[in-house]
Amino acid sequence: MTGHWFEPIADHLGSAYLRYSFTKGTVQEVDWLMGRLGLVGGQRILDVGCGPGRHAHELARRGLLVHGVDISRRFVELAIAGAPSGATFSRLDARALPFVAEFDAAVCLCQGAFGLMTATGEDADVLAGIARALRPGGRVALSAFNAYFAVKYHDQADFDAATGVSHERTEVRDEVGRPAEVDLWTGCYTPRELRLACAAAGLDVESISSVEPGRYGDDPPTTESPEFLVVARRAG
Ligand SMILES: C[S@@+](CC[C@H](N)C(=O)[O-])C[C@H]1O[C@@H](n2cnc3c(N)ncnc32)[C@H](O)[C@@H]1O
Repeated sequence: MTGHWFEPIADHLGSAYLRYSFTKGTVQEVDWLMGRLGLVGGQRILDVGCGPGRHAHELARRGLLVHGVDISRRFVELAIAGAPSGATFSRLDARALPFVAEFDAAVCLCQGAFGLMTATGEDADVLAGIARALRPGGRVALSAFNAYFAVKYHDQADFDAATGVSHERTEVRDEVGRPAEVDLWTGCYTPRELRLACAAAGLDVESISSVEPGRYGDDPPTTESPEFLVVARRAG
């Protein structure tokens, strides 16, 4: 498996990842996803770039059969350790997902692989793999960093106008508070780019909303929210 720059960061963070404020809105996010994706107990859901499994765990508690995949061995171990019944996990590279028409729905949230790719075309590989994993008519919810917001407000990051990738050097702390300096690269998107990417993957976009962690909803796209949330459906 080809490595990914996020893996050493996940190794350092371990369960301290779940202390970051952007992870605290899981219940609200899953409430919204259940309704918007039309999820009902017993359905099979794929969580791409699942991290320590916060969405997968919450979806499984609501009766769904969730499979989470992540490239970080450390995060997959944490996800397995805390898993309720109905949630399973495996270490997989989202750039090469092996699933074919197996899932009723998929989620890829908070830069869960999509948006963490620095090589041209890799986000497209992630999206194509998600589309392939869905049964025809199955929906995906995908969040992506808002390019307008990044340019307007991310003073500490360098935004590369040629690629739409924002680069930031920051400090992350492990479970006992030890700091490490790390580089973060975030692929940023406009709603138009998200529509084009979905179309190329064979996904029909149903909605794109302006959101932030813990506040998923139906607000139309603006320049003022950190993320866009796309709901798209695999063409039948
Ligand atoms: C910011 S975290 C988001 C985790 C989770 N979705 C959440 O909302 O908390 C990004 C995740 O994407 C994973 N990731 C990055 N590149 C990946 C790849 N190529 N394949 C699978 N997972 C990947 C990282 O290991 C990390 O767990």
